[in-house]
Amino acid sequence: MKAAIMGYGVVGSGVGEILLKNAALIENKLGEKIEIKYVLDLRDFPGDVLENRLTKNFEDILADDEVKLVCEAMGGTKPAYEFTKRLLEAGKHVVSSNKELVATYGYELLKTAKEHNVNYLFEAAVGGGVPILRPLWQCLGANHIERFYGILNGTTNFILTKMYNEDMPFDEALALAQQLGYAEKDPTADIAGADVCRKTCILASISFGKHIDPAQVQTQGIQDIHIRDVSYAKANGYEIKLLGFCEKLENGKIDAIVAPFFVPKENQIATVSDVFNGIVVVGDMVDEVFFYGRGAGSLPTASACVADLMDCAMHADKRKNFGWGERDAAFVEKHANCKTTYFVRGEGDINEVKKVFGDVTFLSLQGAPLDEVAFITAKETESALDKKLADIGNLHISAKIRVL
Ligand code: NDP
Ligand code: HSE
Repeated sequence: MKAAIMGYGVVGSGVGEILLKNAALIENKLGEKIEIKYVLDLRDFPGDVLENRLTKNFEDILADDEVKLVCEAMGGTKPAYEFTKRLLEAGKHVVSSNKELVATYGYELLKTAKEHNVNYLFEAAVGGGVPILRPLWQCLGANHIERFYGILNGTTNFILTKMYNEDMPFDEALALAQQLGYAEKDPTADIAGADVCRKTCILASISFGKHIDPAQVQTQGIQDIHIRDVSYAKANGYEIKLLGFCEKLENGKIDAIVAPFFVPKENQIATVSDVFNGIVVVGDMVDEVFFYGRGAGSLPTASACVADLMDCAMHADKRKNFGWGERDAAFVEKHANCKTTYFVRGEGDINEVKKVFGDVTFLSLQGAPLDEVAFITAKETESALDKKLADIGNLHISAKIRVL
């Protein structure tokens, strides 16, 4: 079967490499070869093993009836949305690593795929090389998903690990993540949480059956985490991790949030470091399942793309039943209405804190200034917490971080 790769960067070149290196294995499994007929990119790649397949013209791929499989690894929504839609309409199967595109237009593209009896698969869009979307849809298909949470961004987990375990400065850790091919073209999407938000939306759409838009999910990145809070976390049995979290509420809606969390050391998520991702899914029948592996990087991500290409080849005539329903603005509960436990750090009088919060858990840190107060609240809504904090006389708040 003939294939095309669109975008020959970190992921696309990995797809090419795997299709060439593991060609015999793939042919053995499928009973036929996957042959790369085109590689679309804006740049030239002199001397590259696939140089003679390069094109700069998307229409070459679209017009070629021999090409049945396309891997989109260009990133962004323009022109990726238009290209993907036209390929699906032309009866070609498309796989993608582009979570921005899926989180924004997943519902529309899946609908187009269904209308044209082709597959649109994007296992690489969440967790890089970690199998999560297919297991969630297929292997856990007999469950109502109750909750999922996890580390969904390799770059920020890599940065946090380097900074706090190895004392590497932020800028150096980010530069290294970029050099290793982990970061987004604009790494603000990693640092400020937008990338985790997109992945959380894709997981939530599959888990709960309706398209969840990134704009519906309150999102905070790692830019405000202070080394002092990491010290408090470590001294008191926690790690700080950037998480995507989503759960079904009793009112039938979902609560979704992207933010740094204090994670108890005994939770598997706390042990996930470097570029690795870890995702816990809780189903009503299976209970807790944990997924772990490399969340970014060329070959791990491409491994998921190539598996999707193989799945498309195996389901070339009978499309896989995969997808979710339309947006429903009322389906996502305002996070402000949801209760969470918080770590709070500030400067003030501990007795004043006790008067308002009662017998909460106070945390200690060797060498901390005498007027520093740090504690973990009971479960409360953020607005109730803010009101209580405002009621404490002379308390200056330095940090407020959710606790898992
Ligand atoms: P890269 O920037 O390394 O690769 C993208 C390639 O696509 C570049 O060579 C780019 O060319 C090319 N391209 C962009 N627009 C066009 C266009 N209109 N026509 C032809 N070629 C185009 O990105 P990555 O490989 O890192 O990421 C690709 C996608 O995969 C993104 O959506 C990313 O979020 C996602 N992803 C990345 C992972 C990773 O570990 N890197 C992991 C999981 C998902 P040029 O450089 O000239 O713009
Ligand atoms: N920039 C992303 C990350 C790539 O670091 O996780 C994988 O989606």
